[in-house]
Amino acid sequence: MKKKIVVLTGAGMSAESGLKTFRDADGLWEGYNVMDVATPEAWQRNPELVQQFYNERRIQVLQAQPNAAHYALANLEAHFDIEIITQNIDDLHERAGSTKVTHLHGIITYAQSSSNPTLIYPVEGAEIKMGQLCKWGSQLRPHVVWFGEAVPMIEKAAQICSQADVFILIGSSLAVYPAAGLIDFVPREVTKYVIDPKIPTVGHYQHIIKIEKSATEGVKELIVSLLGS
Ligand code: APR
Repeated sequence: MKKKIVVLTGAGMSAESGLKTFRDADGLWEGYNVMDVATPEAWQRNPELVQQFYNERRIQVLQAQPNAAHYALANLEAHFDIEIITQNIDDLHERAGSTKVTHLHGIITYAQSSSNPTLIYPVEGAEIKMGQLCKWGSQLRPHVVWFGEAVPMIEKAAQICSQADVFILIGSSLAVYPAAGLIDFVPREVTKYVIDPKIPTVGHYQHIIKIEKSATEGVKELIVSLLGS
């Protein structure tokens, strides 16, 4: 049986594909305060603004391409059972060819009903328009998890982490819970790699290997460590 490698990715994974991280720019996300665009209250207050914001993000995602690190993780499936858990709402892991990807915070290429988060539809083209409705007549919104909303995939993700033979964290500041707590579910004796140009605080864990590099450079080094040169 192949070894199970669990990879938790954050915004830094897609930085070299041209998608901005959240906390590298004064807490602003593309010039917006996240509370004005990524909360249920923001949607109540100004759904047009929120829809527009995510429509712009979706256009950026569709124009972006997976980077060498996304492809390298997909290619590692030849050697290992790779499970990716991503906080990212882009689809770059899938487009690179990874087959087991769990999206903790949703995926922007899908829409959901604003009255029932389990009614999910692929977005046709780049935009969700105001007036596009679910089958019960509620406005469609982006299929993403906003601050203050439940994270339905967290239990599945915790379960995956508990089965890891190797754990890898790439490009996340570990500032947002419950995602940041997933590392606690990884068995204590398991080796944990952290790839980030600014290594986040990972607490008291043992068996941590820090690779203080960007995702594309760091994953190259990781592969040498996993497979030998
Ligand atoms: N390669 C790897 N890591 C990078 C790169 C790069 N080229 N560039 C930046 N980073 C690192 C930063 O050093 C930082 O540690 O990526 C991390 C990005 O952290 P955040 O911006 O906080 O992103 P993330 O941890 O994914 O945020 C979690 O917060 O806003 C919410 O829901 C949103 O999923 C997101 C969550």
